[in-house]
Amino acid sequence: MWRATRKKFPAGPSEGLTRWSFGPLNNNPLEYFTKIAREYGDIAGLRVLNFKTIFINHPDLIEEVLVTNARKYSKGKVLRANRHVFGEGLLTSEGDFWLRQRRLAQPAFHRVRIASYAATMVDYTQRMLDGWRDGEVRDAHQEMMRLTLRIVGKTLFDADVERDAQEVGKSLELLLEVGADFRRTIFVPHWLPTPANLQVKREVKQIEKILYRIIAERRASRRDAGDLLSMLLHGQDEDGSRMTDRQLRDETITLFLAGHETTASTLSWTWWLLARNPGVEAKLHAELDAVLGDRPASIDDLPNLVYTGHVITESLRLYPAAWGMARLAVEDHEIAGYPVTKGMGVAMAQWVVHRDPRWYDAPEEFQPERWEGDLLKRLPRFAYFPFGGGPRQCIGNTFALMEATLILATIARKFRFRLVAGHPVVPLASITLRPRHGVRVTLESRQGNEAKKFFTPAQSAVAD
Ligand code: HEM
Repeated sequence: MWRATRKKFPAGPSEGLTRWSFGPLNNNPLEYFTKIAREYGDIAGLRVLNFKTIFINHPDLIEEVLVTNARKYSKGKVLRANRHVFGEGLLTSEGDFWLRQRRLAQPAFHRVRIASYAATMVDYTQRMLDGWRDGEVRDAHQEMMRLTLRIVGKTLFDADVERDAQEVGKSLELLLEVGADFRRTIFVPHWLPTPANLQVKREVKQIEKILYRIIAERRASRRDAGDLLSMLLHGQDEDGSRMTDRQLRDETITLFLAGHETTASTLSWTWWLLARNPGVEAKLHAELDAVLGDRPASIDDLPNLVYTGHVITESLRLYPAAWGMARLAVEDHEIAGYPVTKGMGVAMAQWVVHRDPRWYDAPEEFQPERWEGDLLKRLPRFAYFPFGGGPRQCIGNTFALMEATLILATIARKFRFRLVAGHPVVPLASITLRPRHGVRVTLESRQGNEAKKFFTPAQSAVAD
């Protein structure tokens, strides 16, 4: 049993809570929520202007909100405020409409189906590596963003977005940059012609142009590619009506956004963590060399890439791409005896729970080994929840884990990354958690350098 530190909502300004605002939240929400958890325990009340939010910080409470009482909530304010971007896509829609769309999309994410995407994931990664040279300096985050965008485009929509990758990538980047300002997102209506809102509008238009082209091409070809786009295109309502272009646009923009930046950021943090932890990196290389030798990874290798999988699991613990989540109460009820009224917010942060010393030893350290035993079984279900949980759990979790593991294995077999000295790598807690200035690295070809180990300069002179 857990013991909540219950705090009543402040009766007046004297209690101090009313001083909290989205000011500190904007500057560093990660620190802000960590501090609240430290000071107030498992449950705390926050108030911003008239908007009350309960911040919960215990796995059992999180389970209550996401699973047991899921019906008592809708998605939170930040996602709702982004409806003009995501429309009625899977991430933001509600009720029967959401359920219908989820059922329609689900087959594209079944295990067997996803297995068929593995070859594309490895192939696209190898093609990227063909352009890489030993000693080059690159931004690992940009590289991962381009790669995962192309993979989502190809696997889910059978579209080669190579030529669009740069444009879409830039627009997404700007959208996420603007999205990091929660105060603006929640309190400034999106239709007001502020510079930020106008920029969002421009970037969304840019992405839409490409999505509508993909949709039109597929409609015109009448081809059933058997991919997600075909499933959505051919899915019918009970009354026989098909999805409109607008609905298709909402689902595709959602999947492009939800499905590429999250995995890309997970990999970017992984590269950064590996470069700072040479012991872990060496163990990873040893596994890759033993399992793969000099052939590329395939889906059949996944059961044997155990440590590689733990590296991703641990990276998602320390740097969860979805760093926090929120809900809005749709009816009056209680959490741990704490009154929740309709319209109130409930927030939780993977960033905080995943670093809680109650669940993890040395929580700030990157230790993939911690996952070797039965830790996952021993933990309360929501002490580790990078993909959320309950009915709104991430539809792409298996896709993402397979993709991240295969990309990590394919790249780390050939290259290691050395961090460029003086380049700041800092988390930006936007809708996702990403490295604010990217991750600048020098590429070091492993094959070349591993070979060099066996030839001292004298030996190589002889060999010459
Ligand atoms: C490491 C990568 C990923 C992470 C950490 C992640 C995390 C999450 C989380 C936490 C949620 C739940 C949000 C909530 O309940 O409010 C979610 C939902 C969702 N994710 Fe992911 N995700 C990842 C990759 C993907 C991929 C690859 C796709 C698709 C290709 C995807 C598509 C979606 C969709 C459509 C939803 C909404 C599902 C619904 O409400 O029915 N995600 N994701």
